[in-house]
Amino acid sequence: MPAKTYDTIAGLRGALYARRAAGAGLSVGFVPTMGALHEGHVSLVRRAVSENDITVVSIFLNPLQFDESADLDSYPKTLDADVRLCGEAGADLIFCPSVREVYPDGASTRVEMDGPTDVLCGKSRPRHFSGVLTVVSKLFHIVEPDAAYFGEKDAQQLAVIRKLVRDLNMPVTIVGCPTVREADGLAMSSRNTHLNADERKAATCLFRALAAAREKLGDAAARSGAPRGEGEWASLAAKVADAARAVLDAEPLARTEYVELLDAETLAPLNDSSKAALCAIAVQIGQTRLIDNMRFSLDG
Ligand code: PAF
Repeated sequence: MPAKTYDTIAGLRGALYARRAAGAGLSVGFVPTMGALHEGHVSLVRRAVSENDITVVSIFLNPLQFDESADLDSYPKTLDADVRLCGEAGADLIFCPSVREVYPDGASTRVEMDGPTDVLCGKSRPRHFSGVLTVVSKLFHIVEPDAAYFGEKDAQQLAVIRKLVRDLNMPVTIVGCPTVREADGLAMSSRNTHLNADERKAATCLFRALAAAREKLGDAAARSGAPRGEGEWASLAAKVADAARAVLDAEPLARTEYVELLDAETLAPLNDSSKAALCAIAVQIGQTRLIDNMRFSLDG
């Protein structure tokens, strides 16, 4: 059956109700997107299709999560191609509502979170995560999925959504899916289409910087074993971030916004109970802001 598209909440809910009624216990997988789909999104849809009876994809460019209107205006819009890709990947239902449908006049409730929303991207984009949490909460209420699929490329987004679901007891399993990369390591992103040829070459510095971080962490662990206490963890985090920063600094077209090594679950500074570290990077290349990350297990 080809994917059906709905632009109203009532239409999507009606279709989901009918599909769920067709069989007891049918599971619903959900992939929220903002469109401009690429192989990374397709991998999320395929995973949802393989693990659920019904797969819903939303395509909604959420104005609430853009701190700057220029960023929203320049976001690529490719709805027809997106719908085709979702159908080819096996999605059953596609939800592509208008801004008015999601935020009718008078909608002023916002979901806010303290802690992991204030670090990394949250420092330069103070309203971004509240916008993400608000729309994701609304979409979860509309779709009522059993599982929702998010890319690990947006590691901070994934961490705050996991916390949202825990903090508000939402009955949905959050599934993180591996970053899909180009052959030269560049993480797939809807924003990559903004890069010109020189910028595209320069953009490989993010993956190279993460590889340098991985090497530095490995060397440090081999030389002095596991750090103990706040001071040793902070010194390790600084050394690893410096190794990554050196690679970014050597790229003339790149302007580094941040490079940090944090606890992968809490996004707090590393400490004796951290199980994994996240090296996260944000870089401006020309007019395009790119992010990437790598996760390192600290077990053993
Ligand atoms: O990752 C995205 O594309 C968006 O932040 C999301 C989760 C669809 C919310 O608008």
